[in-house]
Amino acid sequence: MSVRIAIVGTGYVGLVTGACLAELGHDVVCIDNDKQKIEALNSGRIPIYEPGLDELVSRNVQRGTLRYSLDLPASVRGRDAVFIAVGTPSHPGTDQADLRYVVAATEQVASNIDQFTVIVIKSTVPVGTNRLVQSIVERCLPEGQSAAVASNPEFLREGSAIGDFLHPDRIVFGAENEQAMAILQRIYAPLEQQGYEVLATEIETAEVIKYAANAFLAVKISYINEIADLCEAVGADVDHVATGIGLDHRIGGAFLKAGPGWGGSCFPKDTRALKATASEYVVPMRIVDAAIEANARRKDVVLKKIEAACGGSVAGKRLAIFGLTFKGQTDDVRESPSIDLVRALVERGARIHAYDPSQPAEAARLLPHICMCATPVHAIKNADALVILTDWKSFIDCDLRELSDYMADPVMVDMRNLFDEQAVRGNGFRHYVRVGRGAE
Ligand code: UGA
Repeated sequence: MSVRIAIVGTGYVGLVTGACLAELGHDVVCIDNDKQKIEALNSGRIPIYEPGLDELVSRNVQRGTLRYSLDLPASVRGRDAVFIAVGTPSHPGTDQADLRYVVAATEQVASNIDQFTVIVIKSTVPVGTNRLVQSIVERCLPEGQSAAVASNPEFLREGSAIGDFLHPDRIVFGAENEQAMAILQRIYAPLEQQGYEVLATEIETAEVIKYAANAFLAVKISYINEIADLCEAVGADVDHVATGIGLDHRIGGAFLKAGPGWGGSCFPKDTRALKATASEYVVPMRIVDAAIEANARRKDVVLKKIEAACGGSVAGKRLAIFGLTFKGQTDDVRESPSIDLVRALVERGARIHAYDPSQPAEAARLLPHICMCATPVHAIKNADALVILTDWKSFIDCDLRELSDYMADPVMVDMRNLFDEQAVRGNGFRHYVRVGRGAE
């Protein structure tokens, strides 16, 4: 049965959630106070980069299940559920999330409610925020109206968000009010009927699940990155080790790809926020602490690898960098290991020619002293080494012979283990350095 839903905030999470809920058959209106954004959406332009989102949005706009609005008061009236999916940036210089947009959106939504509505917090918020939201709702509700608050964390990866939403490992929501629970159950019934797991919990439990999941994944990656260092020292191969341990179903094979360290808009922010919450309650968080520290040190390990591949120093060398985003299939450079690494290479005197398939404008702003190239060939010409930092699928299709032919010295440092060693060497590279693989 279709549920009438409003989504406040048409950023990454809001738009993906709105489009996917419309795809499940619900009646969705996506609200934003940014006029340009709504105008762009109304004229069929999607302001974010996410594979498959264009088609999903246009299909649902056409069949009338998805529309946009600038008018929050009018759009929340008559809705069974209003999702809050506004930004929660970190306060500059602190680990605390800035909740001002969540608070403002909640106030506006609550004061315009005209029937029982569940206000669903989708934004990633510190543990305890849903209680705060509850008190705001109670304060702002019009006389005689009732509403409830629920926490419904998202588990969407950039680049595969639509698949993650429509084929989830689990759906988690925390609520106390029975009517709110029933609405959430109706919203996710189409997925539950397909056999996907739905977990209804207490509010605080849902909040903790989000942070505990992201921190666990970050720990897993930092763990395999340290095992990669050990593999290099003892002459083992980390990819085979990952397969060997990942086949144990208690461990699982996902998120065991060694690389330049984890980044993005979630893991760094969420591990810091979890640490901050734990310290507020005087609970030690040693394992998450260790992962954060290991990830910060990861950059030194990568830099040393690049320097060693360049004969001990990168000063005066021309380096081709492939990949600036924090991972492949996104245009997001927030807390990307590549950005820090390129900065450090520039400081050490390297001349950088970078290529990223998404051509991220933000990277050009953050890295004004490097040359941004429109094609792989432009970046590679006369390079003393090629350094791969992001796992873009399109890199695998590059013609390795063409790349090595253009280089001054055909050396490759592959921080994502994208290539087969024999293929690289067979196509003219004299030196190939991978992650977590003992020296040949
Ligand atoms: C992450 C989580 O995976 C989502 O479940 C969660 O919903 C999201 O954060 C969020 O909180 O919104 P995302 O930040 O898009 O998603 O990116 P991931 O695919 O998780 O990658 C994070 C980082 O870990 C990237 O830098 C990636 O390159 C790195 N990574 C990932 C590895 O180095 N090795 C791996 O095996 C996997």
